[in-house]
Amino acid sequence: MTAAPAPRRLLIRDLAQVVSPAGREAPLRGRELGQVEVLEDGYVLCDRGAVQAVGRMRDLQPLDGDVEEVDGRGKSAIPGLVDCHTHACFAGDRVDEFSLRAAGASYEELHAAGGGILATVRATRQAGEEGLREAVRRHRRWMLRFGTTTAEVKSGYGLDRTTELESLRGIRSEGAVPTWLGAHAVPPEFDDADSYLDFALVEVLPEAAKLAEAADVFLERDAFDAVQARRYLAACRDAGLALRLHGDQFTELGAIPLAIELSARSVDHLEATGEDGVRALAQSEVVGVMLPASALFLGRPMPPARALVDAGAVVALATDFNPGSAYCESLPLACSLAATQLGMSPEQALVACTVNAAHVLGRADRIGRLASGFAADCVLLDVPDWRHLAYHLGGDVIAAVIQGGRIVWRG
Ligand code: NIG
Ligand code: FE
Repeated sequence: MTAAPAPRRLLIRDLAQVVSPAGREAPLRGRELGQVEVLEDGYVLCDRGAVQAVGRMRDLQPLDGDVEEVDGRGKSAIPGLVDCHTHACFAGDRVDEFSLRAAGASYEELHAAGGGILATVRATRQAGEEGLREAVRRHRRWMLRFGTTTAEVKSGYGLDRTTELESLRGIRSEGAVPTWLGAHAVPPEFDDADSYLDFALVEVLPEAAKLAEAADVFLERDAFDAVQARRYLAACRDAGLALRLHGDQFTELGAIPLAIELSARSVDHLEATGEDGVRALAQSEVVGVMLPASALFLGRPMPPARALVDAGAVVALATDFNPGSAYCESLPLACSLAATQLGMSPEQALVACTVNAAHVLGRADRIGRLASGFAADCVLLDVPDWRHLAYHLGGDVIAAVIQGGRIVWRG
C-alpha cells in the first residue's frame, strides 16, 4: 500500500466494543468456535506494527511521547479479516459468461465449451508480470476496503511455466500469501491431465516451491481425479509445500479422505459433501473451508456447515474471489451468508474468518486476534455492536482498516 509509514504508536480509544476470538488457542472447534470476548468501552494500543495492549478505557494509563489517536466512539473493533482462499491473480473478467449463466447456461457447460477457467487462462497469459502484479494490487485494494488485512492468493490461471511463476512473484510482491494452484485445469496444449502433470511437476514445481507456501489442486470431474491429485500433492509436499484441495464442489470424488491421508491444511468448497465426509472431516485436523459466496453465485447448494460445526470439525470461511464462480471480495458478505444460509452464529463466522483462517495459512500465532503480541491489523466497524458485520447484508459497515499499525483505509 502507499500509506504513510506506521506511527510508532497508535491508540484507538473510546471504542464501544473491542472484540476478539476467545483465548489464545488455534484452531477453534466445537463449543470454542463460537466464543469471542467482547470488551466494552475499550482501547487498542498498537506499537510498531503490533498490538501492545487491549483493555478498558478506565484502566488506560497516561501515555508519554508521540501517540497518534483515533476516536473510536460509537464504533467497534474486530481483528483484521483473513481471506484464506482467493484466486485474485487473473487478467480480464468473465462478465459475458455471467450474462450467459443468468440466461440459463451452467458453469460446467461453459467450462466444457472452452470458456470458464480456460478463458481466464488465455487473458492471464497475455498480461505479463507487471500486468499481473497490477491486477493483484487492484484486487487486494478491493479486499482491504472490506476489512481483509491478510489474503491468500492462488496462481492457476497461467498453467504454463512463465505465467505460473509470474503469478507467484506478483502475489508475493503485493504482500499476499502465495499458493501454487498448478493443478487447476488441463491447458489446451496437453492431451490429458497426466501429461500436463508430467510437465508441471518437472518444469514448474522446483521454482514454484521457492515462491509459494502451499499447493492446491482442483479435484473434480473434467479437472483432476483422486489418483492425479495424490500424485501432484505428494510431489508438492516432498518439495516442502503445505497442501490444500478444492474438493466436493460438484461431486464427491474422495477429496476428504485424500486430504486426511496427506495431512493437508484444508479441503475447500464442500458443497457436495455427504454424511461420511462430514464425519471423517470432523475427526481430523484438516480444516473445512466454506465458500458460501461461490455457492450463491453459481446457484449451488450450500455446504453442510451446521453438520460440520455440530460434529466438531474445524471450519473456516473465505470468499473464493475469482472471475468465474465468485466475483466477490467481501468477507463481511461471507459472514452474512454464514449467518443466514449456513446456520452459523455471527461469533462462529468471525472465528472462521480470523483465527481459523489464519491457521489455514500457518499464521495463527501472529494474526486473527486483537491481543497483545499479534499484528496490529484491526477493522473498525461504524456501529457500536460488532454483530452488524454479519447482520448488515451487503452493507457498508467498515469505518476504517488498520494494517500493521497504519490506517490504510477510511470510510
Ligand atoms: O474455486 N473450482 C475451481 N476454481 C475456482 C473457480 C475458477 C474460475 O471459475 O475461474 C473456484 O470456484
Ligand atoms: Fe477456489
